[in-house]
Amino acid sequence: MSAKYFIDITYLLASFLFILGLKGLSHPEKARRGILYAEAGMFLAVVGTLLHKDIISYEWIIAGMLLGAAIGAPMAIFMPMTAMPQRIALSHAFGALAAALVGVAKYYHYAPNVPSYVMAALAFEVLFGALTFTGSLMAFAKLQEMMTGVPITYKGQNVMNISLFGIAAALGIYLVFNPASSGLFVALFVVSLLLGVLFILPIGGADMPTVISLLNSYAGLAGVATGFVLNNKVLIIAGALDGTSGFLLSVIMCKAMNRSFANVIFGAFGQVAAAAPEAAAAKQATVRSGSPGDAAKIFREAKSVIVVPGYGMAVAQAQHAVRELAELMEKNGTTVKYAIHPVAGRMPGHMNVLLAEANVPYDQLLDMDDINPEFEHTDVSLVIGANDVVNPAAKTDQSSPIYGMPILDVDKSKTVIVLKRSMNPGFAGIDNALFIQPNTMMVFGDAKGTLTKMADELKKL
Ligand code: TAP
Repeated sequence: MSAKYFIDITYLLASFLFILGLKGLSHPEKARRGILYAEAGMFLAVVGTLLHKDIISYEWIIAGMLLGAAIGAPMAIFMPMTAMPQRIALSHAFGALAAALVGVAKYYHYAPNVPSYVMAALAFEVLFGALTFTGSLMAFAKLQEMMTGVPITYKGQNVMNISLFGIAAALGIYLVFNPASSGLFVALFVVSLLLGVLFILPIGGADMPTVISLLNSYAGLAGVATGFVLNNKVLIIAGALDGTSGFLLSVIMCKAMNRSFANVIFGAFGQVAAAAPEAAAAKQATVRSGSPGDAAKIFREAKSVIVVPGYGMAVAQAQHAVRELAELMEKNGTTVKYAIHPVAGRMPGHMNVLLAEANVPYDQLLDMDDINPEFEHTDVSLVIGANDVVNPAAKTDQSSPIYGMPILDVDKSKTVIVLKRSMNPGFAGIDNALFIQPNTMMVFGDAKGTLTKMADELKKL
């Protein structure tokens, strides 16, 4: 078999495995297998590419692989689950930088006689690659709290950003007809880098996961353009899969938060946390709080419990402690289910991943639409570090920034037990009237410690 056919076959198999991988990721039970498929696909794609006849020396490739592994391996091993959004932002930054640099190298390879279709792909690649690079670095800095997560806004900002994007697009189009203008090519690169910074400035830390997903989509599109420039089919397919899945993921997140794309990108969400009247009342009202022992007594009597995990469970790494407590309750004859809100935590599937790691059975995890009708028939809702996703203001307070976001109806259950460390607000920066409801008991403290104490107390009863 000639090398060309071998490469074609590895690329075909790789593309097939990428699609299987994405399919697997749509369900927690098959997600691990999906990742293995995708990894096998990437391995085949790399092997196929290494056999390409245009490669004349492997030294630089090996050096690049070693450098990439030296950066990627510690990131994968040492960055905690709670830092996953910023880890993903960094990966996008590197991927997009690679696409933009390939674009620059190819331009100078062809210049001054760049064929029009190549120039069009190069302009697209450099524009999206460079803006995704700086945009992803900004997203990383905001999430890692290296800079303020509060939106940075100024007068005329949106008009300026859109005009600058128009200038970049015009430069790209001009270059297609006048590819020898290398000064304008440099200008396109610089303006694109600037655009990444300016686009992310007005977006608050709260919206960063949605924006990262959108940047993922841009990195995929830059990859497609690179594939056209290099005439590499697997890159075109992988880039297209990346571009569309990233875009769909951001659409799903926007829908789950009941926000429009425009609101996420231009809305400067999280800038002013205007307190709604109920929220102000929530702060002043006397909160009913109890001990882990009090909660254990309630669990002892409960026939049904719904666990509602949120970002605080991830911070506390309380997933194993939750499973242990749930097992004790089940031994007492209590039915335990888990309610998963689509944007609980800080990234899609955040809660699923953590609970799967703790071996919580998949059939106990229910999506919002399936579990919501069950709350009114449930004895106890155990809210673990969730706040915005159970805030009734989303249903009742039209002035609330989260108004319209679908929430888990925990307020309808007979008793609500909330585990958090203080009365501080969650991601959206607003108070939660659920915490002062007469049927709510707050148990203050770190979720992991509290759950462990609850389990100890339950064992004693
Ligand atoms: P949040 O509303 O952010 O609330 C988390 C709560 O956890 C906080 O109120 C905090 O209260 C508590 N907490 C933190 N550390 C804790 C610990 N060690 N032990 C116990 N509690 C702890 O979380 P949520 O309800 O999961 O909502 C997610 C938010 O993120 C939504 O606003 C959503 O729109 C946004 N968002 C999510 C995504 C995705 S894809 N998941 C994407 C974009 C935006 P204390 O400080 O008092 O402990």
